[in-house]
Amino acid sequence: MAALSIRTLSKRYANLEVLKGIDLDIESGEFTVLVGPSGCGKSTLLNIVAGLDRPSAGTIEIGGRVVNDIPPKDRDIAMVFQSYALYPSMTVRQNITFGMECRHVPKIEQEKAVTNVAKLLQIEPLLGRKPSQLSGGQRQRVAMGRALVRNPLLFLFDEPLSNLDAKLRVEMRMEIKRLHQRIGATIVYVTHDQIEAMTMATRIAVMHQGSVQQFADPDTVYRYPANLFVARFMGSPPMNTMPARLEAENGSLVVIIGAGRPDEVRLRLKGYDAAAPFVGREVVFGIRPECIAEGSRAFSGDAPVLVNAPVEMVEPTGAETMVLLRLGGEPAMARISPDIRPAPGASASFALDTRRICLFDPETERLIA
Ligand SMILES: Nc1ncnc2c1ncn2[C@@H]1O[C@H](COP(=O)(O)OP(=O)(O)OP(=O)(O)O)[C@@H](O)[C@H]1O
Ligand SMILES: [Mg+2]
Repeated sequence: MAALSIRTLSKRYANLEVLKGIDLDIESGEFTVLVGPSGCGKSTLLNIVAGLDRPSAGTIEIGGRVVNDIPPKDRDIAMVFQSYALYPSMTVRQNITFGMECRHVPKIEQEKAVTNVAKLLQIEPLLGRKPSQLSGGQRQRVAMGRALVRNPLLFLFDEPLSNLDAKLRVEMRMEIKRLHQRIGATIVYVTHDQIEAMTMATRIAVMHQGSVQQFADPDTVYRYPANLFVARFMGSPPMNTMPARLEAENGSLVVIIGAGRPDEVRLRLKGYDAAAPFVGREVVFGIRPECIAEGSRAFSGDAPVLVNAPVEMVEPTGAETMVLLRLGGEPAMARISPDIRPAPGASASFALDTRRICLFDPETERLIA
């Protein structure tokens, strides 16, 4: 049984259509991340699931029960908001037990629950403090603890790490992931951070302008982005995309970047038969920065495809060197070994992993192969 089913859900505010026919089925125990740029409708969707807002059309089912007309407190969900409002006059312990107090949970059970989550979130020494005596990250964990003592059908998190510094963010990210692995909870987690999505999700729903563009596991989203929006949104730096032409040559597909130019790049493709209908037509060629490496490096499998390309800019980051180069005149970022620093203004040899490229239809922007 699906833990959460969202059916043809739409939402409009006056003339503005914020959600446009969303369909999602989330299984019990899944960690689903809703990711997308600011304003794409993530919080609106989460708030409708929580019952804090009403849909204009469509249904929400939680644990097999349609909840459209059921108030938030009876939906068996726990939500952590972007701004985690704690009760300032209560201690951490009181903040965590407040909900249980209201539901008249026996004291001994409350104590057990607090001990458990406090240990899990490493906030045991803080239980006697007031929120004002906590750091942002500690408050964040208290808010999380307040949700976790609930053991609901569904956890809803709306950008719960957005107020934390980079280091704490990474720590909390791992903590939440560990938490999920440990308690097997069903989680719907909203973020606009694609790294958070990639690292935590069992499945990612990529949203754009009120629609789900792709709903799949992180590897699939990264490797086979459903369209150009997903290709460019997921990954940092994003996938390089550029106009190209598809031809057939001795029974093989060949993609040509900068066709007719003296520096045109011709790449023979294997395993891209789905693109055959596009022979003789324009396509959008996509290649991730890590699929362009220094010429001395061989990608596993086939012999590397080498191209000589002019280098425009070199950015050493410590762990890797980012290189802006030109492929058939089109700009492309490469992620190469940190030991290698090609000279800007000169040409260098680069290896391309042609088994991991993407081709898109320039009209529909959908993935072809
Ligand atoms: N009450 C409202 N009335 C009118 N428009 C609204 C209302 N609430 C949200 N919107 C609009 O709906 C769109 C989606 O908003 P939403 O808060 O869901 O975005 P989001 O994806 O959560 O963005 P962010 O990443 O910035 O939090 C935005 O264009 C927003 O301006
Ligand atoms: Mg939001």
